[in-house]
Amino acid sequence: MVSRLRKRGASVTVVMTEAATKLVAPMSFRTISDSPVHTQMFEEPRRWNVEHIALAEWADAMVVAPATGNILAKAANGIADDYLSTLLLAFDGTKIVAPAMNTRMWENPATRRNCHTLLEDGFAIIEPDVGRLASGAEGAGRFPDPSVVVEEISSHMHRDRSLEGKTVLVTAGPTREHFDPVRFVSNPSTGLMGYSMAMAARERGARVHLISGPTSLAEPRGVHMVRVTSAEEMKDACEGLWDRVDILLMTAAVADARPLRYSENKGKKNRDDLLGPVEATPDILANLGPRKGERFIVGFAAETPGDDALENARGKMQSKNADMMVLNEVGGEHSAFGADDNRVLLLSGDNCEELPREHKRILARGIMDRVVKALPGAKK
Ligand code: CTP
Repeated sequence: MVSRLRKRGASVTVVMTEAATKLVAPMSFRTISDSPVHTQMFEEPRRWNVEHIALAEWADAMVVAPATGNILAKAANGIADDYLSTLLLAFDGTKIVAPAMNTRMWENPATRRNCHTLLEDGFAIIEPDVGRLASGAEGAGRFPDPSVVVEEISSHMHRDRSLEGKTVLVTAGPTREHFDPVRFVSNPSTGLMGYSMAMAARERGARVHLISGPTSLAEPRGVHMVRVTSAEEMKDACEGLWDRVDILLMTAAVADARPLRYSENKGKKNRDDLLGPVEATPDILANLGPRKGERFIVGFAAETPGDDALENARGKMQSKNADMMVLNEVGGEHSAFGADDNRVLLLSGDNCEELPREHKRILARGIMDRVVKALPGAKK
């Protein structure tokens, strides 16, 4: 991260807690940052009270990465008992934390509370990933790829609050259409694109409602989350919020078919009609589109390669009354489903712009930039 930030032209000074110096030698950061590393409050020369104030005034942004549960708790409560926490208290520029910890610590109500306090106090949070943790366990709390962290630091530093006062509804993930308690019709969407869109909207100051089908992703902080299972439930949740919505980002991969019959008991697999007849699920976007009013609507089209992908996506944009359509390739070698990165074509009116392959969290920011620029009244 330090060298990536320097490559982007930033001057970086590293402050380490005592615990951090047990994991990485301060000399490594001294070399990479080409700047003295601060570790202790009372280090020589004894100019600490001047020094930490001078450092607080020098920096444009302060990033705590990785941020432990302990530093989040201290920062949320204004505790200043070492160099890092004192500096945080003295600093009034852009404050960013990138939490990384064990899943139970991340999900703990105290950590949730602290994150909300930090967001209210104007801190930015770089959400941790779900994945393999240092302990070997799988779960939410993993430090994201440094390229993602650096990209998010940069966008927080160029703080764009263009969606302040706006309400953004994001749908994410697959839906599941059950035909018995343990079997369902669905698709391989992980929800990462939708969750990333929600984070990108929140970052710009929007009030965000995230309606999510079943995923294994962690709940982004500072977002109102509604969990649903089926297309019908997602439709009801969208309808319930529709009056308040300014922008709809319909990222969900809604299952297209649902079984007509539901069995309370697990059906036997050798039955010929295990799944039975199916019917189409409600098309949520096509239902909301005609009631668009002043809202801005973005659809996400999933098309297999070849076919008439572009034409189909344009057709969907028109028939569902969307202002913008994000065309994703699915099913082929570069399927958007299940991958951390993606490339998309962005359609609006007659325009078509390619956004090259990036991590979905970075790509979501690129899409949000275009949405903000396309909003009525935006500076072109
Ligand atoms: N969509 C929806 N409700 C559905 C199906 C899709 O709201 N039942 C939305 C998706 O969330 C997406 C857009 O419509 O924003 C396009 O979805 P896509 O799956 O690409 O298209 P479909 O309309 O389902 O058409 P097809 O599956 O035939 O390509």
